[in-house]
Amino acid sequence: MESIATISGMRSRLKEARREIEKTKPFSTVGFMPTLGYMHEGHMSLIRQARKECDIVVVSIFVNPLQFGQNEDFDKYPRDPERDLKLAAEAGADFVFVPGVKEMYPAPTKTTVVVKQITDVMCGASRPGHFEGVATVVTKLFQIVQPDRAYFGMKDAQQVAVIEQFTADLNMPVHIVRCETLREPDGLAMSSRNVYLNEEERKQALVLSEALGKVQGWADQPGMTIERLERNIRDTIEAAPLTRIDYVEIRTYPGLEPVTSMDQWNGTEPVLVALAVKFGATRLIDNRIFS
Ligand code: PAF
Repeated sequence: MESIATISGMRSRLKEARREIEKTKPFSTVGFMPTLGYMHEGHMSLIRQARKECDIVVVSIFVNPLQFGQNEDFDKYPRDPERDLKLAAEAGADFVFVPGVKEMYPAPTKTTVVVKQITDVMCGASRPGHFEGVATVVTKLFQIVQPDRAYFGMKDAQQVAVIEQFTADLNMPVHIVRCETLREPDGLAMSSRNVYLNEEERKQALVLSEALGKVQGWADQPGMTIERLERNIRDTIEAAPLTRIDYVEIRTYPGLEPVTSMDQWNGTEPVLVALAVKFGATRLIDNRIFS
């Protein structure tokens, strides 16, 4: 595995790698997994999936300042580049792209990618500018790596909807692969931010997956309404005293329109139940899609 810090280096090594493969096959496929680093088993499972499906596997590690708000955790976002490189190699990556901020943004960017409507709600409402930062950096990374397939975890379901939207709108020749959320044995969704939780917060964080696990049972109760469903979810989360709910949302997926009736819940469009909850200074998200 090679780690590469420059855009020109990444482009030329990928060109060579593709050329090598195309000596024996008519075309080569590049699988790409952009990350903020501080890898865990969730990242590794995506890399392993890309390894099975593609000839060349590229991972990027870049803590993108554009997607962090002023009072967010850009400076203290957990970083461990050496360990990340080891894990990426173990999972089967061929190249790890590790640009610095100056390489990605040599000057303040005057061009950004803005996705309308679906970025105004949920995490977009709590984190203004976040998805503009994500869409911009993912577009830049796609321009550099030119992947055929790009792998994203469904824990960030809204991010996946945003990426699917701009890649379709802008005719980008990349297939977005939705990958299942990986969970700890007790159900907590894997996240680099889980390291911020103290022992008590970690215990109480289980209410997220517990609440999501009960949703189908509640939905099946006669006379259930969307308001009561949301109330039940909120009550379950709030029973854990350290929680502060940012949002509980019930929306269509991937359109992210509000779901207002059980008829809609039982309709043909998949429904996303998404949670964002703070434990002290740590904000965790989790979701489930019902179809
Ligand atoms: O989900 C992430 O890790 C980031 O938002 C991404 C897609 C790597 C863009 O910086």
